[in-house]
Amino acid sequence: MLQLTREKLIGKGWHRECYEHPDDRDLCIKVVVNGNNAETNREQAYYRYLTQHLTDWRAVPRFHGNVETNLGQGAVFDLVYDSDGQVSRTLGYYLESPERFLKNKTALNSALAQLKQYQLQHNVLTMSLKPNNLLIQRNDDGAFSAHIIDNLGNADWIPLANYFSWFGSAKIERKWSRFHKLLGQTYPHLGNDLQAF
Ligand SMILES: Nc1ncnc2c1ncn2[C@@H]1O[C@H](COP(=O)(O)OP(=O)(O)O)[C@@H](O)[C@H]1O
Ligand SMILES: [Mg+2]
Repeated sequence: MLQLTREKLIGKGWHRECYEHPDDRDLCIKVVVNGNNAETNREQAYYRYLTQHLTDWRAVPRFHGNVETNLGQGAVFDLVYDSDGQVSRTLGYYLESPERFLKNKTALNSALAQLKQYQLQHNVLTMSLKPNNLLIQRNDDGAFSAHIIDNLGNADWIPLANYFSWFGSAKIERKWSRFHKLLGQTYPHLGNDLQAF
């Protein structure tokens, strides 16, 4: 059984904690601390679908199965790092400080625009888009790339959007327009500096 300890805690959301894997710096382990496994099961079902269909994983951390830990069942994923070896920060981290946002705004806008294009091209669906569910990876050349770490998939009873990309694209466009509205409400100081993707 793997032992997860506080000093390896990377981040925390509404229902999970995310730890660095004790034996492998390239992996993280997510354990549910609030609520049940319904969301985990849904996520893993979508990952099974992606494993069969997705060819380009550049914006989605790979899922490496479940392990037993001292904190219960843990789900293992790729851990996203910046080129300087620091764990990548969330989009929320970059947006909450006006100075940090202004300093990085071109790279951020471009990473978000590219993420949307990636989703449209490969029909990668999310239930919703939220600032703390996107990681911003800083690359060597100063460019950023965005990764979706949570809320992937589709809750429709009959998930037509998975199989028909025209349907998937409409869904992706809707999620991005909602996301844009959410960003405007949550970070009013960003104004028009955050482009409409
Ligand atoms: N693959 C990852 N690489 C690096 N950090 C991550 C990764 N996945 C999650 N995190 C960090 O852990 C936090 C919580 O993870 P998340 O999957 O969003 O949990 P929840 O389902 O509770 O919202 C994220 O906001 C992020 O800071
Ligand atoms: Mg989350």
